[in-house]
Amino acid sequence: MVMKTEPWGDALDSVLADGYETGSHEPALIVPTPSGRPFTQELAVQLSERPWLIFTPARYEGIDRRVVDEYATRMPVYEVSIGDYVLAGGEAAVLVVTEAVARLLPGVLGNAESHRDDSFAPGAMASLLEGPVYTKPPEWRGRDIPDVLLSGHHGKIARWRRDEALKRTTAHRPDLIERCEPKAFDKKDREMLSILGWAPDPAGEPYGRFWRRTEGMEQ
Ligand SMILES: C[S@@+](CC[C@H](N)C(=O)[O-])C[C@H]1O[C@@H](n2cnc3c(N)ncnc32)[C@H](O)[C@@H]1O
Repeated sequence: MVMKTEPWGDALDSVLADGYETGSHEPALIVPTPSGRPFTQELAVQLSERPWLIFTPARYEGIDRRVVDEYATRMPVYEVSIGDYVLAGGEAAVLVVTEAVARLLPGVLGNAESHRDDSFAPGAMASLLEGPVYTKPPEWRGRDIPDVLLSGHHGKIARWRRDEALKRTTAHRPDLIERCEPKAFDKKDREMLSILGWAPDPAGEPYGRFWRRTEGMEQ
């Protein structure tokens, strides 16, 4: 079963008329679909810059293609997938996109700077996953916070965080490490990468792969 053009056309016209009536500028249309481009933090940042967003979460086999083609003549359309799996409907995908975009808007997070350190934060040369985080108390059920975090030494703490990010990224998302440009890593990063079994990959550079796992290393 495919969702029909008429109800979607009527619904979108009505939402657009309401939005323009309140003086909003051109929105973007977000079409959740497993066949869309992957939804990433970079795309969340782009969408957070749009004046408003309209979503078309579908059910069944999706929406008659002519609806997307029609509204693509009036506004930018982003067909996005939230992952390589198929949900029964697009509602959960809308929640995912909304939550990722909304927390980037001014006034939503208590500290507007805090999302700059998140995993996948764009702008950095290396897109690394965030390592483990801790808070008080320093000991819980016999488990201690790593000493370095209680040392008050900002340089050592930053280095520890970076090493943990490298460990986590190489373990969980080696594809992200492969694509990090060589200049993204300083001498200490390279030492840690070497310990983790990673080396520069000159043969991969033409294909955008700058690092490779060296043989024999298991994590
Ligand atoms: C059962 S799915 C349709 C799957 C479609 N036949 C296909 O194979 O691409 C119904 C709806 O759920 C939503 N959906 C399912 N998986 C999704 C995903 N990974 N990302 C975004 N939306 C998804 C979309 O709105 C989709 O139209």
